[in-house]
Amino acid sequence: MAKIINEVSRTFNEYLIIPGLTTKEHTPDNVNLQTPVVKFKKGEEPKISINIPFVSAIMQSVSDDGLSIALAKEGGVSFIYGSQSIETQAEMVKSVKKYKAGFVTSRANITPEASLLEVIELKNKTGFSNIGVTEDGTANGKFLGLVTGRDYRTKTDAYSKKVKDFMTPISDIVTGKDGISLNEANDIIWENKLNTLPILDENEHLKYFVFRKDYENHKMHPNEVLDSQKRLIVGAGINSRDHKERVPALVEAGVDLLCIDSSDGFSEWQKDTISYIKENHSNVFIGAGNVVDREGFMYLAKAGADFIKVGVGGGSICITREQKGIGRGQATAIIEVAEARDEYFAQTGEYIPICSDGGIVQDYHMTLALAMGADFLMMGRYFARFDESPTRKLMVGGNYVKEYWGEGSNRARNWQRYDMGGNNSLKFEEGVDSYVPYAGKLKDNLDLTIGKIKSTMCSCGVSTVKELQTNSKLTLVSSTSIIEGGAHDVIVKDSSN
Ligand code: IMP
Repeated sequence: MAKIINEVSRTFNEYLIIPGLTTKEHTPDNVNLQTPVVKFKKGEEPKISINIPFVSAIMQSVSDDGLSIALAKEGGVSFIYGSQSIETQAEMVKSVKKYKAGFVTSRANITPEASLLEVIELKNKTGFSNIGVTEDGTANGKFLGLVTGRDYRTKTDAYSKKVKDFMTPISDIVTGKDGISLNEANDIIWENKLNTLPILDENEHLKYFVFRKDYENHKMHPNEVLDSQKRLIVGAGINSRDHKERVPALVEAGVDLLCIDSSDGFSEWQKDTISYIKENHSNVFIGAGNVVDREGFMYLAKAGADFIKVGVGGGSICITREQKGIGRGQATAIIEVAEARDEYFAQTGEYIPICSDGGIVQDYHMTLALAMGADFLMMGRYFARFDESPTRKLMVGGNYVKEYWGEGSNRARNWQRYDMGGNNSLKFEEGVDSYVPYAGKLKDNLDLTIGKIKSTMCSCGVSTVKELQTNSKLTLVSSTSIIEGGAHDVIVKDSSN
């Protein structure tokens, strides 16, 4: 007979946190949300930590290079989706690694022979009023000058006038040498009262621009997660089918973290993939999953995973439970796997961080997931709502929405994620194609979310993720007390009045 687990498996909504003693030291400013991402030995520091406990989901509709840059600047990390060609995924990784905070590759460039009309057209098309003049009109061509709105007058100048006749030539421009730090660039900007500093290599080719306004912006990202060469950290999703071709390309592109993306990670394929990476690419970290119980965790831990992802069937776009009848309430899954992680740590002295993946709806669910033992959280729906996610923003029913689709939907057709052997195709859908309410900029939303988490942690009397995991008290709630948790027995005013 099958083993029947009589304990009900539960999810976040069924729990609340009981406040602990808040001392005067427990202020949001004193809360540190840094958390490990990869395994480490007792007494040692993890090689990669993030400064906020969030990673973005390995999904076409969530994690491209744009979102990866935005999130790493705020202290988290993204896993660029693997359901694309090896070449395009590696390009996205490269674009994150090439990104230098404050150093911007010029996106509006023109040749000296072009006309004023072309300048105006380029400005209208790109929205940039700062145009680089290079010999061949490319972003990294030999730098000859700059065109800004101060160089021409549309009312009086002939549209046929050549760029070389009205640009500000290189001889009149202060430039910086490639390799200088952002602080040095900023000093030059201030000393010379500039708005823009072109950075040139030894052959006078344009490498970047540094803008005065971006330096201020950079100072607003004290949490950014950087590697030893001060480049942003980035992850990428892989599968257990084409990893022998995909992983070398991603490593070559500079990826820091890999994660095997699968709806069910308790498999020999994952073990083999981890072994391949450990043997052939020992300088990159590899996460595995997803699992929902002790057995699954122990299997992947012994296989050598650097972190383990937890969750089957809880994702907002996920219909795996309906289609296949597999899964587990996310709260119960995390609690059991966190216990297994602690047991493994006590036995081996090796701490393998666990990631709660999917099903986070409210901000307080994040605090709950961490209190239950998760070291960090993977979210799809949360990030899909922001400007920086790769999908279209549309007006539907009078409201702005963003598109958000599952990797197991017909739209993504990521058969490798759901593959159980056999022919290479998606046999049935495990995810839906949907909209999520548009929520604006990633940074604005993160600031609010982080503010709430820090405030809850102060209520619990804890200042770190580790303290939250060890010292907080959680309680189950009955369905009637869930009603008590919202506004009740009052007539709520219509906020438009
Ligand atoms: P969310 O944060 O609740 O939207 O869940 C995101 C997570 O759902 C991802 O990180 C994946 O683990 C999972 N997921 C992504 N696509 C699918 C799908 O099509 N079916 C089932 N689960 C999915």
